[in-house]
Amino acid sequence: MPHLILPGLIDVHVHLRDLGQSHKEDFYTGTSAALAGGFITVLDMPNNKEPITTLTKLVEKISEAKKKIVCDVGFHAGSLGIDLDELDKMEPYVLGLKLYLNKTTGNYIIDKEKLIKIFDHWHSLKPIMLHAESDIIGEVINNVKRTGRHVHICHVSTKYELTTVIEAKMKKLPVTCGVTPHHLFLSYEAAKKLGPFGMMKPQIEKGFKEFLWKNLTYIDVIESDHAPHTIEEKKSGTPPFGVPNLDTTLPLLLTAVSEKKLTRERLLELCYENPYRLFRIKTDKNTYLEIDEKKEFVIDNKKLKTKCGWSPYAGWKVKGKVKRVFIKGKKVFENGKILVKKGSGKVIYSN
Ligand code: DOR
Ligand code: ZN
Repeated sequence: MPHLILPGLIDVHVHLRDLGQSHKEDFYTGTSAALAGGFITVLDMPNNKEPITTLTKLVEKISEAKKKIVCDVGFHAGSLGIDLDELDKMEPYVLGLKLYLNKTTGNYIIDKEKLIKIFDHWHSLKPIMLHAESDIIGEVINNVKRTGRHVHICHVSTKYELTTVIEAKMKKLPVTCGVTPHHLFLSYEAAKKLGPFGMMKPQIEKGFKEFLWKNLTYIDVIESDHAPHTIEEKKSGTPPFGVPNLDTTLPLLLTAVSEKKLTRERLLELCYENPYRLFRIKTDKNTYLEIDEKKEFVIDNKKLKTKCGWSPYAGWKVKGKVKRVFIKGKKVFENGKILVKKGSGKVIYSN
């Protein structure tokens, strides 16, 4: 049977780790998980062991990535509101700026004063990505009104956050937003059952999943927030926040398509068209996926490419499998195997 052909997908929000945290994930295993999951471009977040807030650290990260990646990788800059001159220096090498206003892995939180300073020093049309939960999202919108900068609210996770984003969009403010696969597919109850393996930031609010599916029309992108931590770390007394997603996002979404919860066109808007438009990512018509839409399988921890080796969806039956991946006409993945050498992926900068 002929396979379904889709363009190579784009994930604008992943944590590939490496740089002192390669026991969780490294650039090779993370980008292998991306290819196995049908993503050919991923944008990596700056909350590394040492946050990526200077050009020196960014250059170090890029050169490590170049040795190991097997798909295209771009980066987001970070800032703690201290080395403000570094923002202009990092800008040409990144696709966005990521700021944290709430507690999460790394705890690189900035306060309201720093937020204002950073907005004033980001002289770029590239998006400012915000981890901004209900308590602080209003402050972000004030800064959008003040500066006109494009803000992307990451992993919308409460009714209040999504309502705030919808209101901003109604006012034609330059605000976009993303949601994660876990907020789309895990209920509050299911996450609770997973114990530490269902702990992430932002957490899952009771009833949000249903609200989200009803309001999916307001969402711009699906971003995985792929956040690998080891099984041992998760079982420890202080489990870190985050769940891996890169291997499993597309099978979950294709299953939703097969259940008629989502159209294939909308899937492509959320995982391809909007990401490339909003983050100005080059695309190529010879970069595509071959999908077996009818293939049913059970998500199995042993078959994942992510180094952390577990999934919150282990045991779930899904329908739709990535068979082959081609980048610029070259076959890079087939039937569970990565066919290219470490370092054959490309670091991407803005168009
Ligand atoms: O759950 C999360 N994990 N949320 C974040 O915002 C960061 C991420 C991580 O880096 O582990
Ligand atoms: Zn994240």
